[in-house]
Amino acid sequence: MANNDELFKQIISHAKEYGFIFPSSEIYDGMSAVYDYAQLGVELKNNIKQYWWKAMVQYNENIVGIDSAIFMHPTIWKASGHVDAFNDPLIDNKDSKKRYRADVLIEDYLQKLEDKNEKEVEKAKKKFENFDEKLFKETNPNILRNQEKINSVSSRFAELMNQSDLVGIKSLIEELEIVCPVSGSKNWTDVRQFNLMFSTQMGSVSEGADTIYLRPETAQGIFVNFINVYKTGRMKIPFGIAQIGKAFRNEIVARQFIFRMREFEQMEMQFFVRPGEEIKWFEYWKNERINWHKSLGIDLANYRFHDHDKLAHYANAATDIEFNFPFGFKELEGIHSRTDYDLSQHEKFSGKKLRYFDPETNESYIPYVIETSIGVDRMFLAVLGNSFTEETLADGSQRVVLKIPPVLAPYKVAVLPLVKKDGLPEKAREIMDLLKMKMMCQYDEKDAIGRRYRRQDAIGTPYCITVDNQSLEDNTVTIRERDTMLQKRVPISEILQSIIL
Ligand code: GAP
Repeated sequence: MANNDELFKQIISHAKEYGFIFPSSEIYDGMSAVYDYAQLGVELKNNIKQYWWKAMVQYNENIVGIDSAIFMHPTIWKASGHVDAFNDPLIDNKDSKKRYRADVLIEDYLQKLEDKNEKEVEKAKKKFENFDEKLFKETNPNILRNQEKINSVSSRFAELMNQSDLVGIKSLIEELEIVCPVSGSKNWTDVRQFNLMFSTQMGSVSEGADTIYLRPETAQGIFVNFINVYKTGRMKIPFGIAQIGKAFRNEIVARQFIFRMREFEQMEMQFFVRPGEEIKWFEYWKNERINWHKSLGIDLANYRFHDHDKLAHYANAATDIEFNFPFGFKELEGIHSRTDYDLSQHEKFSGKKLRYFDPETNESYIPYVIETSIGVDRMFLAVLGNSFTEETLADGSQRVVLKIPPVLAPYKVAVLPLVKKDGLPEKAREIMDLLKMKMMCQYDEKDAIGRRYRRQDAIGTPYCITVDNQSLEDNTVTIRERDTMLQKRVPISEILQSIIL
């Protein structure tokens, strides 16, 4: 579903129309890159978090969870490197007064060249029978020219970014003749670094008050609690600490709906291991995490690993799990081998020993860390985008159905009396009372039954339980399955066994 703008727009409007996601502060004209989760969205989001928490904390005896505060001591962000190096290169257009991320301007330029090549291939595919894509790409002069440009610009760009060469980045933008999408001019300011952390003051008066930051990742809350958890939890290496929580980044280019937001949520786990064993555990967590995604039944072709060629100075292995979003493959989750960098830095800045005593080797050491980090909101977008389906039925009618994995669906069942009379609503209410302590159920008696099925399809409810006149006679109901639309009649006493979640 790559590069499908129309589909993406449909998904965004569906999310609003059915109460999954609203723009934040909408009656005040909204805020860029901030969104509110609505009545169905919050259910789906909570289910994603619970599914992750169960897989990480409940399933693994050696992983425990915490919930650390968003406000933390400002020195933590000095130690972690965020104060000095958590920057994006910024550039302004002097005519439109619009601000851009300089690196994104260059990435967009490269993407346009890639798109041109794709179009060339698509055109040829339609024209020639027995089309050999590989041969075409290797021989078509336009594609070869573009590819050469992509390669040379990419490697120069990577080098400049690596060296934080802001003057070089500006020269590259000028050389590529990149124009401002708003003014169309090449009248650019110099490139400067912009720190992504939001800061505020703690204390009732601002003079002399400490600048503190809204955390840009949840991970540091885990590192600074390492000793407390290790000691009070009597943890033995290898062990993990997991946390789900809000993170904040002042993203310059905030776009693609909930993919890149200024306030978002992360599900992170830091796994502490013996030095020298980190690569083994890195491979282990790569496998575990892709298996978690697999277990949701989403087509695996939508996932790919992207191993980092250039590693951050503290990492000795890193990969992204990328997902095929409606706008192409993009990072969904990161898995990083962070060595002993974070704990060593906190040891240095806090002056406290952050070491583990290994009873097997009789040694004290700073453990190495494997991190798994996934954005809740990106996972939400992956699930929503992947589940959005438009179908033409046998009778020629259309339905929109969200084929959300049942375990994540906001409502698990809808209970529907066939008509609003003859004692059917009362019977349906009895079934609601039977089920609602066990799962999220929705009662609906308004409109014709067909319309009610469509509405449940559109919000992803896996099962519709319909109460009809026969239900009054023999205590049976029909259960309709969302994806197949097949119905079967079961005794009320067997509803629970008939529902697979
Ligand atoms: N502790 C490591 C860390 O924060 P990251 O790659 O910067 O690494 C991890 O972020 C994950 O958080 C990403 O893979 C993504 O899913 C999510 N994420 C990062 N920035 C985001 C943003 N602005 N909006 C939504 N999700 C974001």
